[in-house]
Amino acid sequence: MKKKLTNWRLFTFTGLTALFLSGCGEPFLSTLTPAGEAGQTAYDLMLLSTWIMVGVVIVVSVLFAIAVLKFRRKKDDPAIPKQVEGSHVLEMIWTIIPIILLIILAIPTVLATFDLADTKAMDKKKEDGTTDAMVVNVRANLYWWEFEYPNQKIITSQELVVPTDQKVYFNVKASDVKHSFWIPAAGGKIDTNVENVNQIWLEFDGEKAEEADNLFYGKCAELCGPSHALMDFKVHALPKQEFNQWVTAMQAIDAKAAEAKPEDPAAAAGQEIFNQKCLSCHAVTTADARPEAARTAPNLAGFGERERIAGILEHNEEELKNWISNPEEYKPGNKMTGTYGELSDQETDQLAAYLMSLKVE
Ligand code: CUA
Repeated sequence: MKKKLTNWRLFTFTGLTALFLSGCGEPFLSTLTPAGEAGQTAYDLMLLSTWIMVGVVIVVSVLFAIAVLKFRRKKDDPAIPKQVEGSHVLEMIWTIIPIILLIILAIPTVLATFDLADTKAMDKKKEDGTTDAMVVNVRANLYWWEFEYPNQKIITSQELVVPTDQKVYFNVKASDVKHSFWIPAAGGKIDTNVENVNQIWLEFDGEKAEEADNLFYGKCAELCGPSHALMDFKVHALPKQEFNQWVTAMQAIDAKAAEAKPEDPAAAAGQEIFNQKCLSCHAVTTADARPEAARTAPNLAGFGERERIAGILEHNEEELKNWISNPEEYKPGNKMTGTYGELSDQETDQLAAYLMSLKVE
């Protein structure tokens, strides 16, 4: 009976583990399904080190098994085996083999490290200060992300849009505490610091992006506060042409477009409320002229077409109202709670209607 119970437990444990691990390897989120050159390089290094380790484990296990089975002390045999301590040959063997293994591991690792850190293309500035390289300035904040495209003169937040099949260069920093910028499927993570700008490049493979429905998940990978685990962002990796269309559409959301009154009366009322209570922190134009320090909340241009609310909630009006009514419940420690006073249910409805009306096209 007891044995049966143990078997059953083992079965359940194995089953649950398999179920849990099957969540790994999702094309939109996993380092195990690399979606571009940087991710692939890191993955290849992971495989190389894993194979070396597996090889070592196998060789050691086999030697151990031979030693135990073949040289087992026979019954009634008092003889002591030949003593080999201090054998130079053996010591050389177990010193040289690990050195060789480390060299095999070190060469590709060092080469990859330099390659992945090569962001020189960002420094080749043209006369107007723009670059041929695709550049995004990332700014991490408690608990949201800003993405600024210096060449395209666009600012957006929470949803990064990038072209596929080319290197995208990132300048990353933080405005409050240390965070870490990480798109698991695309490549390694990089710290976003307050005191300096770090640089990294990533590449999104067109075919891999298609497999992931052109949507990757991004994360904050540095414990930064109570809502660290909720500091998510999304990445839309689009073919170059679609990316250019997005840029053009975003550039069209200028001050004039943002000031236009929505047709829907509820949304129009919401716009009034927004302008009174939210506009001092949240911009709704992509060409935000304010200095960085004044951009204290996510830019909301095109908000109505985003994937998630606050990076985590389903993107619908109901969840938006929940978020506006009580942001603290969804992201503890966020900087929005308590900044805009009480809103009536009607005001919340109107505000939500307005925000959902903010479209890119
Ligand atoms: Cu930001 Cu963790």
